[in-house]
Amino acid sequence: MRKTLSIVGCGNVGKTLGRLWHLNETFIVQDVLNRSFESAQRAVSFIGNGRPVAEYADLRRSDIYMIAATDDQIAACCEALADAGWLTPGTVVFHCSGALRSTELKAAIRCGASVASIHPIRSFASPNQVVQTFAGTWCGAEGDANAINQLTEAFSAIGGQLVALDADFKIIYHSAAVFASNYLVTLLDVAQQAYEKSGIPRDVALKLMEPLVKETVENVFRLGPPEALTGPIARGDVATAMKQYRAVGDWNKRFGALYRQLGKLTVNLAARRSRKRGKD
Ligand SMILES: NC(=O)c1ccc[n+]([C@@H]2O[C@H](COP(=O)([O-])OP(=O)(O)OC[C@H]3O[C@@H](n4cnc5c(N)ncnc54)[C@H](OP(=O)(O)O)[C@@H]3O)[C@@H](O)[C@H]2O)c1
Repeated sequence: MRKTLSIVGCGNVGKTLGRLWHLNETFIVQDVLNRSFESAQRAVSFIGNGRPVAEYADLRRSDIYMIAATDDQIAACCEALADAGWLTPGTVVFHCSGALRSTELKAAIRCGASVASIHPIRSFASPNQVVQTFAGTWCGAEGDANAINQLTEAFSAIGGQLVALDADFKIIYHSAAVFASNYLVTLLDVAQQAYEKSGIPRDVALKLMEPLVKETVENVFRLGPPEALTGPIARGDVATAMKQYRAVGDWNKRFGALYRQLGKLTVNLAARRSRKRGKD
């Protein structure tokens, strides 16, 4: 028999997963609770099934509760679910945060429920698009065995691929995405400013950068970071790197500090490549 799922905190992530599970007939989407009733109504209409509710007392007992509220609200939502009496041994509760451990669901653990955190590694800014393209999405997962078993099945049914995480390193795991995605954007913004400083218009700068960035990123995925490295440090041209560091620092102190820090890490990366080539 299909299990029931209720969703507390049903924004971009909650409604996307809810719709996917409804379309695939994985779960019966039962109740949806948001901060505002109108928002819960909108989420239910996106999912195509379920009942919007305004209060924890209006929820019904479900086999599984997904808490897809914002990170700062997850513990409080779980406490409220427990206070309303919905969490008992056998119930599975999970959240979708990449930064918080499954033990954030303290109230559920206290009630004897099974807990997990399953973090789909992608952007949910456009739920309609993610519904179409979710298959193949990697999801970082940790929690107790019962919750992980049940959720592995449910995520596999919609094409999610779970990768096991060590809860003690959850915050470091999350920093990887910050480096790979958010800080990459910041770095490209600095590059655009450097082109602009050299006299190239902003829009042209972005066009210049496009093939460079795309080719580099493709090389990283094809060859791995050490082999994808090019430029003065990879060539051992320390004089150019030092001259550049001074010029960038004279223009902008913070960019100079960034150039220096990245330069040191790049020297290490180049050394790793040399060691690897020496072994091959
Ligand atoms: N966005 C992403 O790309 C992404 C990717 C992977 C994982 N995640 C994780 O997924 C979770 C949800 O993120 P999201 O982007 O879907 O957030 P979101 O779009 O802002 O949605 C959050 C939802 O939670 C509801 N909510 C907030 N506080 C609540 C409370 N105290 N009680 C009940 N409902 C509450 C909000 O209700 P109202 O609509 O009434 O305000 C809203 O519908 C977070 O843990 C996030 O870290 C996000």
